[in-house]
Amino acid sequence: MLLLRDANTPAAVIRREDYSAPAFWIDTVHLCFDLDPAKTRVLNTMTLRRNPDVPAQALRLDGDELNLARVLVNGAGTSFKLDAGQLVLENLPLEGRFELEIFTTCAPAKNTKLMGLYVSNDSFFTQCEAEGFRRITYFLDRPDVMASFTVTLRADKTKYPVLLSNGNLTDSGALDDGRHFATWVDPHKKPCYLFALVAGQLVCREQRITSRAGKDHLLQVYVRPGDMDKTEHAMTSLINSVIWDEARFGLPLDLERFMIVATSDFNMGAMENKGLNVFNTKYVLANQATATDVDFANIEGVVGHEYFHNWTGNRITCRDWFQLSLKEGLTVFRDQEFSMDLCAEPSARAVKRIEDVRVLRTAQFPEDAGPMAHPVRPDSYIEINNFYTVTIYEKGAEVVRMMQTLVGRSGFAKGMTLYFARHDGSAVTCDDFAQAVADANPDSALAKLLQQFKRWYSQAGTPRLTTSTHYDAATQTCTLNFVQSCPATPGQEAKEPFVIPVSLGLVGASSGAALPLQLQGSSAAASDSHLFVMTQAAESITFENVTEEPVPSILRGFSAPVIVDFDYTDAQLLKLLANDPDPFNRWEAGQRLALRSAIQSIMAAGPAASSLDAAFISAMRSVLRHPTLDAAFKELVLTLPSETYIAEQLDVVDPQRIHAVREAMREQLANELAADWQWAFEAHCQNGGYRPDTLSSGRRALAGLALNYLCLAARASGDAVWPGRAYQRFKDADNMTDRFNALSALVHTGHALATPALARFHSLFKSEELVLDKWFALQAGCTDRGGQVLPAVRQLLKHPDFNIRNPNRARSVIFSYCSANPGAFHRADAAGYVFWADQVLALDAINPQVAARLARALDRWKKLAEPYQHAACEALKRVAAKPDLSNDVREVVSRALAD
Ligand code: BES
Ligand code: ZN
Repeated sequence: MLLLRDANTPAAVIRREDYSAPAFWIDTVHLCFDLDPAKTRVLNTMTLRRNPDVPAQALRLDGDELNLARVLVNGAGTSFKLDAGQLVLENLPLEGRFELEIFTTCAPAKNTKLMGLYVSNDSFFTQCEAEGFRRITYFLDRPDVMASFTVTLRADKTKYPVLLSNGNLTDSGALDDGRHFATWVDPHKKPCYLFALVAGQLVCREQRITSRAGKDHLLQVYVRPGDMDKTEHAMTSLINSVIWDEARFGLPLDLERFMIVATSDFNMGAMENKGLNVFNTKYVLANQATATDVDFANIEGVVGHEYFHNWTGNRITCRDWFQLSLKEGLTVFRDQEFSMDLCAEPSARAVKRIEDVRVLRTAQFPEDAGPMAHPVRPDSYIEINNFYTVTIYEKGAEVVRMMQTLVGRSGFAKGMTLYFARHDGSAVTCDDFAQAVADANPDSALAKLLQQFKRWYSQAGTPRLTTSTHYDAATQTCTLNFVQSCPATPGQEAKEPFVIPVSLGLVGASSGAALPLQLQGSSAAASDSHLFVMTQAAESITFENVTEEPVPSILRGFSAPVIVDFDYTDAQLLKLLANDPDPFNRWEAGQRLALRSAIQSIMAAGPAASSLDAAFISAMRSVLRHPTLDAAFKELVLTLPSETYIAEQLDVVDPQRIHAVREAMREQLANELAADWQWAFEAHCQNGGYRPDTLSSGRRALAGLALNYLCLAARASGDAVWPGRAYQRFKDADNMTDRFNALSALVHTGHALATPALARFHSLFKSEELVLDKWFALQAGCTDRGGQVLPAVRQLLKHPDFNIRNPNRARSVIFSYCSANPGAFHRADAAGYVFWADQVLALDAINPQVAARLARALDRWKKLAEPYQHAACEALKRVAAKPDLSNDVREVVSRALAD
């Protein structure tokens, strides 16, 4: 595929099969920076040698937006040329090491892409993954070239008192003219994407810890001077991460000094640069006044994630970017496990699992079914930034989780140990990882099925598992029949069967009891749960001594990333909802019931209405009032499937119909459970002194949901009591979770009190940028009632606090509207799509990476009903017609428009 970048430069497709080892190795790098926002000088002195395994050829160093001043080889001038951004050196020594010195300048203050070296709030930051290092100096910018880095930073001492880079500080001191310097030596070899520097006016919270082996380490969290009171949770999360990785996987901290630095201008969430993680402020700063429970939980997960990369990503890295899931899928799996292991109660583990699956199913399943579908290990890309996807991350984590399921928890830990024994210090592939886990468990199903299992890496698309049962009361046997299939995806027509670990159980259709499972032909003792490892296109298993008609509980804990089709009756689902010992499937039963009712109403003729039946309402009441289930779980069960998830189940999508039906369902739940919501609110609204633990977070979440439903019911009845109480709670809350939930209840129900509440919220928090992001996002994500959201969004863009150059702010307004508010975005008058196209084009001129993410909001346009489909196509075409579009956005819109 050739995509036209402009009239004559086609954007190249990079293919996995074209991988070849680098022609040169870079052993050492010394970087010397003279930091200046307008013009930073970079002196890069490297030692290189030829790679003897590769035919002799020219050295081609990557570069992007650099001004080249000088090139010396072993101290002498040399001939070179510039070819498509690369610096090409033809006449290099054939034998031995040589020194290459390159002097360049760049302009950090003008760097709006936030890749490479840039300025944020008068401080310097870098972001090099995936290909940002080439914007700092000419280099072999690929992850399989690992070098030892020494970095000297020089800058004005008053403006930039703190000078940080990877590794250990070995020297520092004063220079002339009010400048100073610091030299950092990283004891570990690393690919250049893990390089980082930070310079500015920062303060830090620090903590010394001693590892199990008795080594001392210094942990630091750097923030702007006013933000010290928001660093405790990040530090606690970091300490917990260090302890956990050592306890669960025997992986200790390998650095004397580990630093986290927060910046408010960041394209992503956070970055694992060796010993110097750079974080979006959103994933560092928190105190009870400014951050919600969800923020606290996210910080714990992201701090863990980046810390865990120190081993899975940094010590062992990726051979090429096609192997991205090697580090990202594995590290997401690790951060999920970390958060689960930190849960005090088993029910909280289940809640975390449900939340993770919800992300997978609302974001990754649609990706897998759309124009950007790609395997966990892609075969080609145009812009690597477009492949930091939910498939690489979340599906990749599910693939690792399935490996753990197939080899057991301790078998998986053994696999990790073997992986490090074999590959520590090198750049490897997804195959190497899977092989290590299998080899460490030679008798496991994974080892026996490894080649087939690896289809999870090579085949895109979400498999469908169609299941049926047959119960024979006379013989007391129950047979489960499974058929798997996987739809075609771009470039992959036919799929081979996957290895699907199906965790399952049987629940008595009348008793509701967990029935013992005795597999036919197996001598193993009966158990409550069975792991069926499916490998064929169609298979059956039979259980004996099944004393009662059973309801199958399939795919417990969501044991594989597949869609389960089973023709449950409502009565069966109600049984599972009330009795399944597996909390995931208990929740799933409720979601299936709600989904079924939603789809019936969507398909029905006439105005949108809710048709939740009495049995469902009463089941929801039982869950809500249940004496032992915890609040967080109740909140998940009582939350209806999202509009995006409902849309995913339909072949033709009318977003307005979905929105109207779901709102009608919410109103029905609000009205018919009014007394129960009132009880739930009263019973959960007082939670003592604030602590962001899972138990009290769950209580606040349930109280928040209850308040939302109570305000919704009040909207219909005109009652003023609950909106009044919500306003009061909004004013009096001692924490952001309760305050924001109360504000949301007023805003989403469109109550008159929303206006003064929003104004008050803004004036209270006008100097807290992360809180202002919430203020913007709430309004842009507001429930649409007749089209009021888009005009409000247009006004927000004109607000003095809006700044499209700040990714967090752009996301809080533009993405909250286009990507997270389908009922407001998909307008019959096409105005939402026109807005989208305008914003994609505006952002593309500033920050293509962020623009390309926004571009994906129209991925699923082909599923839309008219008039939406035609209008969305026009908007995509308008973006695609722009001649000087970035590769990032061009790749996304071209794929969307391809047939
Ligand atoms: N390595 C990534 C950060 C990254 C992604 C840099 C893409 C450059 C391009 C980091 O480890 C990461 O995955 N961050 C996530 C958060 C994480 C908790 C899943 C992010 O930034 O969204
Ligand atoms: Zn990561």
